Amino acid sequence: MSEKIVKGFLVSKTDTKGKITYCNDAFVEISGFCMSELVGKPHSIVRHSDMPRAVFAYLWENIAKGCEVNVYVKNLAKNGDFYWVFANVTPSFDTSGKIIGYYSVRREPNRQGVQRVSELYTKMLQAESSGGIKAGAQVFGEFFKNLCYEDFVMHLQVGE
Ligand SMILES: Cc1cc2nc3c(=O)[nH]c(=O)nc-3n(C[C@H](O)[C@H](O)[C@H](O)COP(=O)(O)O)c2cc1C
Repeated sequence: MSEKIVKGFLVSKTDTKGKITYCNDAFVEISGFCMSELVGKPHSIVRHSDMPRAVFAYLWENIAKGCEVNVYVKNLAKNGDFYWVFANVTPSFDTSGKIIGYYSVRREPNRQGVQRVSELYTKMLQAESSGGIKAGAQVFGEFFKNLCYEDFVMHLQVGE
């Protein structure tokens, strides 16, 4: 299966459960699905099996409490191809401050960043295959003991 390179910005919106409510043409095109196959479906429709579960647990834990998250994600296209993204995910609030959905804008990641992050994700996946999500979260937690994931990915993204 071959790797696709992201051009421009891939945008999607979800409800509070992660069901897709909107995606832009660039997201539709790279996914290989048509718009009607995406809207109304769980966002995990583009989930790649190389992604550790603990990364998504980290994502949901933070966005559900109202925080913004920046994360490297490997996604799966309909035909089995894959593409890496640097994704910014934010909650959307109503006027009373209640979360009414989520919003994500993704772009082509720094290639050295992809290299570093895939090494970490491979270790997490190995841990998860025997010890489940807890073991993956432990590898993640240990890696980021003296460093926060956000700082790590932001530095990688700007090539530091
Ligand atoms: C706004 C938003 C965008 C998301 N984008 C992606 C994405 O591009 N790829 C992905 O695999 N998961 C994405 N997710 C996470 C999925 O909701 C889901 O947690 C993940 O695919 C793991 O699937 P699972 O929870 O069924 O194991 C997104 C979630 C939100 C709220």
